[in-house]
Amino acid sequence: MADTSVKTLLLSQSDLVKAGVLDMPKCVDVIEEVFSLLGKGDYLMGGPLENEHGQMIYFPDTERFPGMPVTGPDRRFMAMIAYLGGRYKICGEKWYGSNAQNWKKGLPRSILTTILNDSDTGVPFAILSGNLISAMRTGAVPGVAARHLARKGAKTVGVIGGGVINRACLLAIKAGCPTVEEAYLYDINKDKFDSFAKEMADKVGVKVHWAPSIEAAVCPADIVTIATSGATFPRIEKEWLKKGCLVTFTGAAEMDLDCFSENTVIADNWKMHQAFILDGKEHPQGIDAVGVVAPSFFLLRYVNDGLYDESKIRNLGDVVNGDDPGRKDDDEIILFPTGGMPVHDLAWGYTLYEKALEMGLGTEYVFFEEAYWR
Ligand SMILES: NC(=O)c1ccc[n+]([C@@H]2O[C@H](COP(=O)([O-])OP(=O)(O)OC[C@H]3O[C@@H](n4cnc5c(N)ncnc54)[C@H](O)[C@@H]3O)[C@@H](O)[C@H]2O)c1
Repeated sequence: MADTSVKTLLLSQSDLVKAGVLDMPKCVDVIEEVFSLLGKGDYLMGGPLENEHGQMIYFPDTERFPGMPVTGPDRRFMAMIAYLGGRYKICGEKWYGSNAQNWKKGLPRSILTTILNDSDTGVPFAILSGNLISAMRTGAVPGVAARHLARKGAKTVGVIGGGVINRACLLAIKAGCPTVEEAYLYDINKDKFDSFAKEMADKVGVKVHWAPSIEAAVCPADIVTIATSGATFPRIEKEWLKKGCLVTFTGAAEMDLDCFSENTVIADNWKMHQAFILDGKEHPQGIDAVGVVAPSFFLLRYVNDGLYDESKIRNLGDVVNGDDPGRKDDDEIILFPTGGMPVHDLAWGYTLYEKALEMGLGTEYVFFEEAYWR
């Protein structure tokens, strides 16, 4: 009789490190391949628009019942689901909780799980520790953007926020754009500087300088990477942007309307950002409710208020596939909002799963030998 058991491979952080989760150049290549699939349309994400970032638990402002969580900076739970085609043909989910106060407990801001399923049967064939997968795939996105959209010879990066995500972003930007030599880091917490600078020098030979203000980090930069968390969004003035720079919004930053209107916007997948607007329309607090999760938040507000014509926005997948010319010249300023997509977690997770199988890593867990009821 056929084997009707359901088993899953559990992959811990240390298994994934052995399988190469920290190999950023490879991750950038994998994420670039996913952008190509996005451009071709060989994917599905959640919801009727097939493009939703995820389904979020919004916590209320006051404790409605004892123990019920209340809203707070970067405090949420999110289920992000997708089907990914190409060589993958899998379904899966990234599920996480986030709370900016986690540092007080010695925990990272967010704690993530990646689940990979057979897209035919639904069997969850792997469950992976999601933090490094997510951080690496998140960083890899600006890495792909830098490869395709940065001006030729880009040398200097402005880093706003020196947390987990911007570490990955700078490693990826260096992988995508090897001409990068130095960076200026601004963080509201100067304590972040030493270990950030040491890691970048050790791993990729990028010299990081301390920037005492956002302006000091942005002004010299050919590429700006924004990834802050917490209650206050950084604000960037359009006069600070150097000619030809690429600004990647992995986290939100406040910018005036004319900065978006006068420059080029190329998104990771604008349809997903449109789905954020619909979420805002359904929420009692309106579009402001998605500020906690949408790095395109300020642009979304302008679109939602009818002040910005979103039909001008192009997508990175089309640039990767050669269907869009991308940058037009060395002076063009390009703004790149990236909201985070589960297709990227699936692709990097599956690549590592294949490697783990090859290396005999992980722990097999039996869901059932035979289904109790079927
Ligand atoms: N787009 C995506 O795919 C994606 C994926 C994951 C995380 N994110 C977002 O990236 C952001 C960063 O996440 P993280 O895990 O690195 O968080 P983190 O808490 O590890 O680091 C954030 C850093 O930003 C600094 N900071 C806070 N406010 C600042 C400000 N106004 N100016 C300068 N620095 C400031 C903090 O001191 C901290 O060092 C979060 O907003 C998160 O939601 C986006």
